[in-house]
Amino acid sequence: MQTSRTMYLETYGCQMNMADSEIVLSIMRDAGFVRTNFLSRADVALINTCAVRENAEQRIIGRLGDFNHYKKSNPDVIIGVLGCMAERVRRNLMVSEDFVDLIVGPDEYRKLPALVEAAMEGEKGIAVKLSRIEKYDDIIPFRTEGLSAWISIMRGCDKFCTFCVVPFTRGRERSRSQANILKEVEEVSQRGFKEVTLLGQNVNSYWDGTNDFPDLLAAVAEVDLSMRIRFMTSHPQDMSDKLITTIASRSNICNSIHLPVQSGSDRILDLMNRTYTIDQYLFLVRKIKEAIPAISLSTDIITGFPTETEDDHRQTINLLRTVEYDGAYTFKYSPRENTKAWSMGDDVPEEVKNSRLSEVIDIQRNISLHRNKTMVGQTIEVLVEGPSKKSAADFCGRTDTNKMVVFPKNGDAIGNYVDVRIERANSATLFGTQEHVFHQSPAAITQAS
Ligand code: 5AD
Ligand code: SF4
Repeated sequence: MQTSRTMYLETYGCQMNMADSEIVLSIMRDAGFVRTNFLSRADVALINTCAVRENAEQRIIGRLGDFNHYKKSNPDVIIGVLGCMAERVRRNLMVSEDFVDLIVGPDEYRKLPALVEAAMEGEKGIAVKLSRIEKYDDIIPFRTEGLSAWISIMRGCDKFCTFCVVPFTRGRERSRSQANILKEVEEVSQRGFKEVTLLGQNVNSYWDGTNDFPDLLAAVAEVDLSMRIRFMTSHPQDMSDKLITTIASRSNICNSIHLPVQSGSDRILDLMNRTYTIDQYLFLVRKIKEAIPAISLSTDIITGFPTETEDDHRQTINLLRTVEYDGAYTFKYSPRENTKAWSMGDDVPEEVKNSRLSEVIDIQRNISLHRNKTMVGQTIEVLVEGPSKKSAADFCGRTDTNKMVVFPKNGDAIGNYVDVRIERANSATLFGTQEHVFHQSPAAITQAS
């Protein structure tokens, strides 16, 4: 009897990549492969890669060294590089890393089983064609049990921000059908998931020919009122009034929006091709805060974009203080070949990029701390995720605004909603005590109040 062939898969980068890995696992499972969590037991070792910044690629090259080491003692193992870096570097990756057998871009995963079979016969394979149509609409991704499910609703990006490699590695924007997305939401609801995050590079431009993003979001929210609905990422240009109203009017759509601004300087925003000014962005933020007073906003910031001056940087700091984000993901500018910004040079010295980055991080940490402290004394609904990593006597869970809450264990609450009275806070976590026994849903609390 032939034993099953095993595959190992490691994922780097954004949530889109995590979701893509679940598609890969589904395709490979259907082709008869069994997943192993140990590289040392793999017949096929795959790495799903990120190309958004140079340091992400460097880490992956480092990790591929370990894959090579494994292959030296197991020459039959097939090594495959998937995802954005595969798409960007293509055949050159097989030249620089000659032990790699397969290079497969984000739109070619349906070919993986055939490419693996061919590689087992000694034929190296490369598939990096990008598609203009949605490729995986009908695939139900392979998910292990859990509370939180990621669901891709669209792929690619047409924005062409000048610093960003994504339009080149993931191709043009295309959306899945609402019907298939709803099928997937129903499936995760029946399996007991409590939270769904709708994913896309720019979910706000979702369009399946009939439904726009607010239509989809409202329909997803209806499937199971006890399930929290999140989404990311939103480009400020496409954040419509209809979307704001949809979020405001549905109790199980989370009060949390990731709204990357990138810079506080109009001059830099223009060079980035972000298509809005700071005034327009602030107008949008005011509209959101008026419609949804409990909203939590997060953002992405890049420091050291070409030509960024101290004055541009100060404007970014001012913007952080004006908006008072709950959190920010902060990055040093990393030049990416083929992007428009590549030809603008990389003139901000490394130490200046670093010090601006540190300042942004410090200031945002204080703002997050201040925002979290305003929650002390409030009772907040928390979805319990499991034991706290730092203390076995505590549970941790999240608010609908996506804040981590730690509180003493009280019964078997994992997967339930509990009310926690917040007693103290730091910049990353709220701490409190559970007040009530579990209840059913985010909707239940709204209806009761
Ligand atoms: N350099 C630094 N940060 C980048 N991002 C995208 N491209 C680059 C780059 N070349 C950041 C942006 C984006 C986030 C996902 O990654 O802030 O919103
Ligand atoms: Fe990249 Fe801009 Fe598209 Fe985001 S919106 S993926 S930053 S090009």
